[in-house]
Amino acid sequence: MDVVIVESPADIGPLVASMVIGLLERRPGSVLGLAAGDSPVPVYESLIEAHRRGEVSFAEASAVTLDEYVGLPPGHPQSYRQVIIDDFVSHVDLPVSSLHTPDVHAADLSAACVEFEAQIGRLGGVDLQLLGIGANGHIGFNEPSSSLASRTRITTLHPRTRGDNARFFTSAAEVPYHVVTQGVGTVLDARHAVLVASGEHKRQAVAAMVEGPVTAFVPASALQLHPHATVVIDEASAAGLQLTECYRFAHEHRPRWCQY
Ligand code: F6R
Repeated sequence: MDVVIVESPADIGPLVASMVIGLLERRPGSVLGLAAGDSPVPVYESLIEAHRRGEVSFAEASAVTLDEYVGLPPGHPQSYRQVIIDDFVSHVDLPVSSLHTPDVHAADLSAACVEFEAQIGRLGGVDLQLLGIGANGHIGFNEPSSSLASRTRITTLHPRTRGDNARFFTSAAEVPYHVVTQGVGTVLDARHAVLVASGEHKRQAVAAMVEGPVTAFVPASALQLHPHATVVIDEASAAGLQLTECYRFAHEHRPRWCQY
């Protein structure tokens, strides 16, 4: 796991965007895994700016989403499909038809989860999965105690996550109880996992993910098992780490030919 500590949240966007741009230069038809929530917004903003400057095209790329609420009407402004369209897809040249999301309106949700995994397979797998981390250590909506081998499935949000996400809704009662999420095992299949986090409220979760034991109690700790995981965090969210000097040293002395 590569840990990159940047000074402020504003530094996260350009760095992670450069990873996505480098990938698309090498392979324009890459498959991106997109997350919702606040954390990836600076990355989307940097990518949109780069697209406007003509530095990157998504025309041949595809994207899959990480997770989705169950029970919101199609096109609800807080459905993650809609959030990702509004925050990113509608501002670049990625065709909306190339954005693949689980069908959370299907009568048979379990079959829809199996179909979503099959869709990822048909696309050839995810090249770069963008991730945030919940304050309780979740990735996607894999809450503590999720199997580290789990696949895309329907699951129930923990009360803390419902509370954390209430800020996106007009009232806390509106936050759905159920979600479909890529499993931890699905996330681990991505060829490159890039997790971004910022803010003091992520300090404990980041420390547990990077330096704690690999445990289903902290699903994000499964990234320690990933052959190519990059964690890009600001100073505030890195404050609980013990080896910050080593991470900084490794980043500063990273050979130029060695891309994240
Ligand atoms: C979103 C997702 C979640 C969020 C996490 C952090 O698609 O999968 O795991 O990344 O809840 O949310 P923010 O970034 O809003 O703090």
